[in-house]
Amino acid sequence: MQRRYRLLRFLADGRFHSGEELGHLLGVGRAAVWKLMQSLEPLGLDVYAVRGKGYRLAEPLELLNEEQVLAELNPLAATLLHQLEVVPEIDSTNRYLMERARSGTASANACFAEYQSAGRGRQGRPWISPFGTNVYVSVLRRFDVGAEALQGLSLAAGVAVARALSSLGVSELKLKWPNDLVWRERKLGGLLVETAGEPAGPWHVVVGVGLNLSLPEASARLIDQPWVDLKTVAPGQIGRNRVAGRLLLHLLTGLEEFSRHGFAAFRQEWERYDLVRDRLVSVSGVGSVTHGRACGVDHTGALLLSVAGQIRRVLSGDVSLRVAV
Ligand code: BTN
Repeated sequence: MQRRYRLLRFLADGRFHSGEELGHLLGVGRAAVWKLMQSLEPLGLDVYAVRGKGYRLAEPLELLNEEQVLAELNPLAATLLHQLEVVPEIDSTNRYLMERARSGTASANACFAEYQSAGRGRQGRPWISPFGTNVYVSVLRRFDVGAEALQGLSLAAGVAVARALSSLGVSELKLKWPNDLVWRERKLGGLLVETAGEPAGPWHVVVGVGLNLSLPEASARLIDQPWVDLKTVAPGQIGRNRVAGRLLLHLLTGLEEFSRHGFAAFRQEWERYDLVRDRLVSVSGVGSVTHGRACGVDHTGALLLSVAGQIRRVLSGDVSLRVAV
């Protein structure tokens, strides 16, 4: 990645750069620049090459900067964070921190990536992660409790992200059970929570968040559901480092609050964000589909469905809305 990354730092301003200029800056010939430009394709960016003018990105990029991210933390969050990493490229920040969890890394590590080559979504789906445009972050935290005390954690983490976005002036945000961030029925982002531990504890939890900030067309074409990005939701242009820092702040403090008070401290707030409350939904699980009316969540974070007059608890699955007939 090194040379590719240096090239991207020059291109990040969104202006045209000639092959000659880039070659000079990188200390390589024009043919090598051309080859490097080809190597950007898998990174999912929209790149223009115009004869006589050179190369430019469709949109300028605000690359992540550790100091600017840390500047968003308050004193409590700063003391909770053990280590922050910002990496240009990784397969998956969740995979990386889960590996660190298994190798015994203590707690409170956070990892942001500019690009994920194998970003993971829920239910084994890929998470499209183009370079330098969206936010991909994972936070690892250790909990010295048994499995039961972790119930509702992934919903609490969703509330933490909603708080971060609301602090940036985003309105109309909804949470779709269990972990989708939705704006006007289109997906703005999602969370993937992974855990490792023994039933009696301790547990290592990795909370991964993917948030669309500005999706390049080349990447958007790969997404098979209605999506939206932050630049559409909050057209005032919120800086990428600011969003990253706010997410980290609220994830760290939210996980701390969860460790003290559990899901009870988040449940009412979660219900205020609930997209499907009182609506007809279908929930697809492994090999089954349940239809019913959504009635909120219980104290464990399970979705409550009213099916033929009976309340059923749903522990996992994908929710889709049904049109009433
Ligand atoms: C979903 O399917 O809605 C969850 C998406 C979670 C994506 C994030 S991006 C950062 C972290 N690393 C991953 O590989 N996945 C999560």
